[in-house]
Amino acid sequence: MNLNGKSAVVTGGGNGIGRAICLALAGEGVNVAVADIEADAARGVAGEAAELGVQAIGVATDVTDEASVAALADAAWEAFGSVEILVNNAGVAQNSMPLAQTSAQDLDWIFAVNVGGAMNGVRVFAPRFLASGGPCHIVNTASEHALGVPHLGGGLYTASKHALLGLSDVLRRELPDHVTVSVLCPGIVESTLWRASERRQETFGGASPAPEMAGAFMSQVGMPAEEVAAAAVEGIRQGRFFIVTHPHAVKFAQSRWEEIGRAFAEQAPRREGDERYDLEPIMQRMLAGRNPSDE
Ligand SMILES: NC(=O)c1ccc[n+]([C@@H]2O[C@H](COP(=O)([O-])OP(=O)(O)OC[C@H]3O[C@@H](n4cnc5c(N)ncnc54)[C@H](O)[C@@H]3O)[C@@H](O)[C@H]2O)c1
Repeated sequence: MNLNGKSAVVTGGGNGIGRAICLALAGEGVNVAVADIEADAARGVAGEAAELGVQAIGVATDVTDEASVAALADAAWEAFGSVEILVNNAGVAQNSMPLAQTSAQDLDWIFAVNVGGAMNGVRVFAPRFLASGGPCHIVNTASEHALGVPHLGGGLYTASKHALLGLSDVLRRELPDHVTVSVLCPGIVESTLWRASERRQETFGGASPAPEMAGAFMSQVGMPAEEVAAAAVEGIRQGRFFIVTHPHAVKFAQSRWEEIGRAFAEQAPRREGDERYDLEPIMQRMLAGRNPSDE
């Protein structure tokens, strides 16, 4: 996609990776709507983007609320006339805790923001992108966790990022060619993610103190958000599905594939006639309204 003159909406744009993506897009001549549950942060980043010579607005948005996301879309279209890029980036992580000790409310919160938030974006923006008929792009910020990086103490977060990979993979095949989809899979990045518990809405149990130690790690060993943002912008430009940033993570993706490959080799090696269960042609026949017994 040729970026200059396009307009983007970035959720979770008030801090960290989202902020850096807003500024990187603005640097390419893209107008940006900076959406965040922290209204002041959204407006602050919009101000920084405007200084780069584009139009920018900050919009207080809670991505868990579909009406709030719809209002965000209306505000962006009103400000820019059109929107071609959506970055579903808002995300939260719970303080480190083994899965068996997490609560149902922890799960609701993490999934409502990380997965529900992205899906609210898809439901609100995809129909508008389809109606536009022109080149559009959706980025879903997942994580290297979606590729198989084990994060003990971060199981709910890891599960939510796998969900984002799964829905992105289906979405890219369901949408027509003019709407492309990326899944952004960074590793550890310098950001304010460690403060996510302070932003937990009352509906999901309310705010709690953030773990300072996680913050110290993120700021000292995290990749600068600008590097991730540069990869994201290049991914949008090139229409890449996987946008990856942290080279070491490939070893986890490889070891996951090797384990899956070994499981198939031992338990379900290819055999004659096994294509009978191949889901792709089965789905095509189902979608065409044919009976299972039809050839
Ligand atoms: N920092 C990392 O190490 C890392 C690694 C991989 C993926 N990610 C992902 O990158 C994305 C951005 O996170 P970050 O690291 O920049 O953290 P961050 O906390 O700095 O930014 C996340 C932003 O989302 C906002 N937000 C939280 N809940 C929201 C809601 N309900 N509605 C709207 N906005 C909300 C926050 O206010 C914050 O500005 C997240 O999806 C995160 O999971 C982060």
